[in-house]
Amino acid sequence: MRQAGPWLRAAEGAMLLGPDGVPAPTVFAEMSALATSTGALNLGQGFPDEDGPVEVLDAAVQAIRDGVNQYPPGRGTADLRAAVSEHQRRWYGLDVDPDRQVLVTAGATEALAATLLALVEPGDEVITFEPFYDAYGALIRLAGGTHVTVPLAAPEFLPDEDALRAAFSDRTRVVLVNTPHNPTGRVLPDDVLTTIVDLATRYDALIVTDEVYEHLTFTVPHTPIATLPGAAERTVSISSAGKTFSTTGWKIGWLTAPPALVDAITTVKQYLTFVNGAPFQPAVAVGLRLPDAVFSGIAAELAAKHDLLATGLRTAGFDVMRPDGGYFVIADTAPLGYDDARAFCLELPALAGVVGVPVSAFVRPDHAAGYRSLVRFAFCKRRSVLEDAAARMAQLPSRA
Ligand SMILES: Cc1ncc(COP(=O)(O)O)c(C=O)c1O
Repeated sequence: MRQAGPWLRAAEGAMLLGPDGVPAPTVFAEMSALATSTGALNLGQGFPDEDGPVEVLDAAVQAIRDGVNQYPPGRGTADLRAAVSEHQRRWYGLDVDPDRQVLVTAGATEALAATLLALVEPGDEVITFEPFYDAYGALIRLAGGTHVTVPLAAPEFLPDEDALRAAFSDRTRVVLVNTPHNPTGRVLPDDVLTTIVDLATRYDALIVTDEVYEHLTFTVPHTPIATLPGAAERTVSISSAGKTFSTTGWKIGWLTAPPALVDAITTVKQYLTFVNGAPFQPAVAVGLRLPDAVFSGIAAELAAKHDLLATGLRTAGFDVMRPDGGYFVIADTAPLGYDDARAFCLELPALAGVVGVPVSAFVRPDHAAGYRSLVRFAFCKRRSVLEDAAARMAQLPSRA
């Protein structure tokens, strides 16, 4: 029987098929399985192991008890859409009509999927930075688009301006920007964002911006690209409750965009999931309305966790690249004499009882050379786990 549909072909293009043509586990699943089978500390996948604000959790429990258990409205509950609109005004001074410019989605992932499927025609080019969050490659292919990448090279992980300009062409339909960035933790500076807006305007491209780590920055503030002059009219801004409120399993995301774009994306979204997460939507509305101090407290706690792990990694002898925000830190294994991060990650549970993910998982195989010795570790874990991981890494035998 013929097996390949567009999704499998997209997965294949995104390197998710094994040599036998059967879907292969992603490197995240592979490394998590390794953590389970070896009992190693799993700093591979980016999910917190502690609960977020109790107000948010209590609101979900209450909503279930109150009978909020059936399909919510297609665009999301009116109250959550209002809360998203209030959030955009309060944090960024953006005016967003809750009825026409907000769509609630099954996580940022569905927002990305529905956006690309709605707006990209076969043959259109979609630009992302590289390394890129793994779903981007598969979704661009699923939409029939051509994926064009602009490298973010270690240790700065900033794009070269000429390379950015060269990536744009008359076929560019979307530039997909992720800031704060997974896996590098880079917050793209305003001058880079301004160049992106200028180029998108010149080539009449849309900007799709993935801002799931918007509240998790440490030293540099996050600038939503939609706040820059001329950007809002061509920008779809995507975020999610998962990272900010440590509720990754709830899969409540949202996007804001001009009404015509939201209408187009909603048309696709209604045949993907239709709706999701009825009792979690009021809870996320509670979260978005929490005082500023709660948000800054969440970011400060995460920064402290970063410091714990980064100090341990430095003590072990890694070159550690400081992230501006997000859940992850990148360490270079080369100073310890390990030059292949994938092989290193497969050995690490036995060597030190820790699991990480090679950064090559976020780049195309033919672009992997510049990232060969880099490993991504997640620090969105309990302090005791990070202290333990840091101590274990400090024992790592050097091969240099
Ligand atoms: C950059 C980026 N975008 C999107 C997602 C997925 O978000 P969600 O769980 O809300 O679908 C993640 C999760 O790791 C991510 O790192």
